[in-house]
Amino acid sequence: METFRTVEELRRWSRAQHAVGLTVGLVPTMGALHAGHASLIHTAALRCQRVVTSLFVNPTQFGPNEDYDKYPRRFEADCALAAQAGASAIFAPTAAEIYPAGAATFVEVEGLSSRLDGQSRPGHFRGVTTVVTKLLLAAEPDYAFFGQKDAAQVAVLRRMVEDLRLAVELVVCPIVREADGLALSSRNSYLSASERKQALVLSHAVRAVEATFAAGERARTALLNVARKTLSTEPAVKLDYLELVDWKTLLPVATAASGTLFALAAYVGPTRLIDNTVLGEQG
Ligand code: PAJ
Repeated sequence: METFRTVEELRRWSRAQHAVGLTVGLVPTMGALHAGHASLIHTAALRCQRVVTSLFVNPTQFGPNEDYDKYPRRFEADCALAAQAGASAIFAPTAAEIYPAGAATFVEVEGLSSRLDGQSRPGHFRGVTTVVTKLLLAAEPDYAFFGQKDAAQVAVLRRMVEDLRLAVELVVCPIVREADGLALSSRNSYLSASERKQALVLSHAVRAVEATFAAGERARTALLNVARKTLSTEPAVKLDYLELVDWKTLLPVATAASGTLFALAAYVGPTRLIDNTVLGEQG
């Protein structure tokens, strides 16, 4: 597996693949890879003949009091996991490679970027859309793979790809969970044993809303109350947001339908976790 550190190296490699008729898939990540990332790489390897995984902890998507400095960085283990999942190459640039000295160019999707996580984390999605644009320009992939785990991120990126008419197809992959339901996240490594137990309440709330929807309930208040009631069983978990939205616009809906996104974010101790489900689509 090859490792590239510069945009130029990656672009040259991608163009060489295309020149001999091979398709290229991009799986953007911030590293600290787990089975959720592996599933994206695996799906990419099934769909594309070459797969590049980026490992880059993107400074511009972290707020001033967030965990940029302590975000887990495990380069060797990440390379091994990516190779095993089917990656052909790794892109691991420095921050200066992605943001040259004096960098002043940002990509922002208005409106959508201030909803859900964007409301709680001002500037977060501006950082995400800027770095993903740079990664797409560097890798020139045919397909780029993202997890439904970050459902608001998917909505923002879909809008961006459409608005800029980028020549890439986004592929959204399902949420990978631990056996007990906890959605895999690089931030789960911050949890103590007791917080790990408390964190389960997020997936319990998701399951409760899915079951209530499956039983025929469609009213926003009723569905959100089911989630609130479930969350109240772990008073130590502090809710950030709880929403029922149109997955395309991220705007609240009064009545749920198949395809409606139920999403929540909550603090378990100091760790902020997210979870969601697209109603009517679970297996
Ligand atoms: P990161 O949190 O590392 O996630 C990389 C990709 O893995 C995202 O598309 C995310 O949705 C997906 N992912 C994470 N946990 C998952 C799970 N349990 N199941 C399925 N997919 C999962 O998201 C980012 O990085 C960054 O914002 C990035 C897009 C790389 C831009 O910096």
